[in-house]
Amino acid sequence: MVYENFYQAYNPKAADRLGIVYTPSAIVRFMIESVDYLLSQHFQTSLSQPGVKILDPATGTGTFITELIEYLPKRYLEQKYKEDLFCNEVGILPYYIANLNIEYTYQQKMGKFVEFKNICFVDTLDHTAYQFKQGDLFATSVENTERLKRQNDEQITVIIGNPPYNAWQENFNLRNPNRPYAGIDKRVKDTYIRAGQAQNQIAVYDMFVRFYRWACDRLTSQGMIAFITNRSFIDSNAFDGFRKLIAEEFDRVYIVDTQSDVRKNPKISGTKNNVFGIQTGVAIMFLLKGVR
Ligand SMILES: C[S@@+](CC[C@H](N)C(=O)[O-])C[C@H]1O[C@@H](n2cnc3c(N)ncnc32)[C@H](O)[C@@H]1O
Repeated sequence: MVYENFYQAYNPKAADRLGIVYTPSAIVRFMIESVDYLLSQHFQTSLSQPGVKILDPATGTGTFITELIEYLPKRYLEQKYKEDLFCNEVGILPYYIANLNIEYTYQQKMGKFVEFKNICFVDTLDHTAYQFKQGDLFATSVENTERLKRQNDEQITVIIGNPPYNAWQENFNLRNPNRPYAGIDKRVKDTYIRAGQAQNQIAVYDMFVRFYRWACDRLTSQGMIAFITNRSFIDSNAFDGFRKLIAEEFDRVYIVDTQSDVRKNPKISGTKNNVFGIQTGVAIMFLLKGVR
């Protein structure tokens, strides 16, 4: 919360563009427990299993990874920490905070400090070098480049997180546009937009949709995505193509709609009815691919 307020004051446009909002830990815990349950139900595995690789592509202050560290049994944690937990962050300030948070949480639980080597300072949606994986051409250091290579070589099982969306921008085209992403925008156009019938589909280029597109392409034959995002994909006209393709690309889809769109729901008002204290409604979606 301190960080969020700080960023709002320090750089409000970037805070909105990058979707900098802190994810309440009850939500994060709910998503982690749900993913673990769904892994056991549909893939006969669990988050603790060695080799079940977990990636948070927009980690912010590292809430999902720290909550995972809290959640995973101690006897599995060393291996998971070193080999199976991954995250990315594009903002330098949250990147450092995430680093500190993750290493501190591990140290508190395990009683010793171990450097966390699986956080990358990178724009997840940039595809400069790899198909649907992050490019390393502009990586900031040799160490970061190594980390990106390692992450890119992994077969990821779970992609989890709270990707950015423009919570404070009522109109998508308002004064603070997101930067274009040539590769991912082409994928959005060739898939969700092409499959849709709606006249105006500009909202489909929202950051959270780009992250869904990226994550759907990043997963290989088997795995799952768990994101908390703007809920507009559930019923807005612009998202008909998105809904159609999600149904086609995945074997199981679970959606938790928090019914928190203040502008659409006359029974609620203000900002206290929403998990993020914002007016945009949010939903959690679990997408499963390769269910046996
Ligand atoms: C909604 S916040 C995530 C909050 C996080 N779960 C937490 O509780 O701190 C989204 C984060 O994604 C980062 N982000 C935005 N665009 C990104 C991108 N293209 N690649 C990597 N990170 C990005 C933002 O800087 C922000 O920290």
